[in-house]
Amino acid sequence: MHKVIYDTDPGVDDAMALLFLHRHPEIDLIGITTIFGNASIETTTRNALFLKQEWNIAAPVAKGANVTIDPARHERPWPTMVHGENGLGDMPVPDTIDLPVDPRPAHRFIIETVRANPGEVRLVAVGRMTNLALALKEDPEIAGLVKDVVIMGGNFYVPGNVSPVAEANIHGDPEAADIVMTAPWKVVVIGLDVTAITTMSRSYLGEMAARGDKAVKQLDTLSQSYIDFYKHAVEDGMMVHDSCASVYVVAPELFTTITGAVRVVCSGIADGQTVIKQDGRRFPPGDWDGLPSQIVATGIESEKVLELIRETLLRL
Ligand code: BDR
Ligand code: CA
Repeated sequence: MHKVIYDTDPGVDDAMALLFLHRHPEIDLIGITTIFGNASIETTTRNALFLKQEWNIAAPVAKGANVTIDPARHERPWPTMVHGENGLGDMPVPDTIDLPVDPRPAHRFIIETVRANPGEVRLVAVGRMTNLALALKEDPEIAGLVKDVVIMGGNFYVPGNVSPVAEANIHGDPEAADIVMTAPWKVVVIGLDVTAITTMSRSYLGEMAARGDKAVKQLDTLSQSYIDFYKHAVEDGMMVHDSCASVYVVAPELFTTITGAVRVVCSGIADGQTVIKQDGRRFPPGDWDGLPSQIVATGIESEKVLELIRETLLRL
């Protein structure tokens, strides 16, 4: 069993990835930590509690950061055109959910859970990297105690989605992402190179919903406006960014990868850009030297990934 802490900003595609983690028989979802990004921290935490309640998920929810690791960073408006005013495609969600939140802030929940399960925890992070960076700052030793960190974020040989060079999760807190990429733990980066070409059509999702239970029908409902948003890039469908990271946990063979030190640009017009110095390439001394070699996905078997998502979501 893979013990997973899911760090998330639900989030339409976050919701599908959550259901995947909850339903996959080889995954033990031991915690959900929230982060601001697709909406405010109040909203993403409320949404995590809502999905936990609706889908009978046992894992506790711990509330995470509401500001970037460098508090001087200027916050931009929430991406309501992508995820709706309420972060879940404006499907009806109660204002408050009558479930307790874990008393610890997300980064401390991560630290304590990792220390209680040395060498076993897989962190799946599909929002800004702020909670992970805070955990590393408070307790750097956890880097040696985590099994691996699988993130959805970044772009290497394709354009960004919030600027010509940057992807939303990294651009939302570049300093945090740079801390995570350069720490001495194993990071697997599932970025736009693979997620932007892994698209689920409206009809594929609709057919899943017709066969599936309440949870799958809810996913179909909350994804409709997200699919509308993607009409500039996808023909009547959506990119399933965060689910790609969840799939990697159990099916890494569906991805091709390269390795190397990864840095994040933290200012200027390329703010939030992710750059790899691939292992074996030689350059004059520079800012990638002496850093851990991370794993970056550059290829994906999209059809098989979609099939695994469908098969898993339809399990009862
Ligand atoms: C990422 O940004 C968010 O909008 C999505 O949930 C995903 O994690 C894609 O760039
Ligand atoms: Ca997300």
